[in-house]
Amino acid sequence: MSSSVERFDERARREADRVGETVVRRGELLRHPVYTRVLHWLVAILFVLSLLSGFGLYSPWLFRWLTPLFGGGPMTRFLHPWFGLAFDIFFFFQFLNWFVPMKWTDADRRWMRRIKEYTTNREKLEPADVGFFNGGQKLYFWAIVLSGALFLVTGLLLWFDDAVPRWLVAVSYVVHDIAALVMLGGFIIHIYEGTAAQPGTFRAMTDGTVSEEWAWTHHPAWYRDATGRDPREDYERASRRQIERERAVEAWEHEQDARERAEGTQKSER
Ligand code: HEM
Repeated sequence: MSSSVERFDERARREADRVGETVVRRGELLRHPVYTRVLHWLVAILFVLSLLSGFGLYSPWLFRWLTPLFGGGPMTRFLHPWFGLAFDIFFFFQFLNWFVPMKWTDADRRWMRRIKEYTTNREKLEPADVGFFNGGQKLYFWAIVLSGALFLVTGLLLWFDDAVPRWLVAVSYVVHDIAALVMLGGFIIHIYEGTAAQPGTFRAMTDGTVSEEWAWTHHPAWYRDATGRDPREDYERASRRQIERERAVEAWEHEQDARERAEGTQKSER
């Protein structure tokens, strides 16, 4: 990446962080600064708008009910390429922003080999070499980069189809629709992983922070870099503390029960 692009990206991050703020409390880590979050949600909104308007165009027979959202059929046809273009532009900025942490490494290759263990939650902690993003997140990112590029090329050919040979228009339709299916599949998995599957993840894109517990569980190598502490040791210390707390509560409850029983016996004797 050229240094002028890096300088631009750095400036944009600083400007965004001046406008909004991220409050990081004790026991939390900064995950995504304001700039990243704003870009993420702009991309997400434009993706959904492109998807819904695209459904209406893809199969009016099935999705006619969606077109009134955009002001009718012709308006949907008019707006869809603009939504797509805006999606690509904002995602391009996110690409510059995330290009470095999304670089594929040996750790990601290892992560992909144990994807079954990940999906079945067999291990409490992710392997020690999982950094800021795991292999699955990187795969999703690169799938969007590829699909975004295909959307742009085929989208432009379909937008200006009068100037393009018929066979190229036909090929563009197929490629555009395949890219949309890939993105839709990834999007469904992404929402599940970012919300229900891993509690505590969603706030990374709203507040911008995550708990330390979340970080040592899902991204141990990042936790080590960010805090300088050992994720497994901290996890084990927290587990021990939790067990001690539960035991103390149990002992207190037993004591209360015994006291109430003793008081009950005294009353009945009087
Ligand atoms: C609308 C529902 C969405 C939700 C609830 C959601 C949630 C999230 C969350 C919580 C993260 C942070 C994950 C982390 O820090 O580990 C994230 C990251 C990300 N989001 Fe979204 N997102 C949504 C839509 C989208 C869309 C539409 C796209 C692009 C088409 C997208 C692309 C990404 C990418 C590339 C990342 C980084 C890699 C990853 O975490 O998978 N998101 N999202």
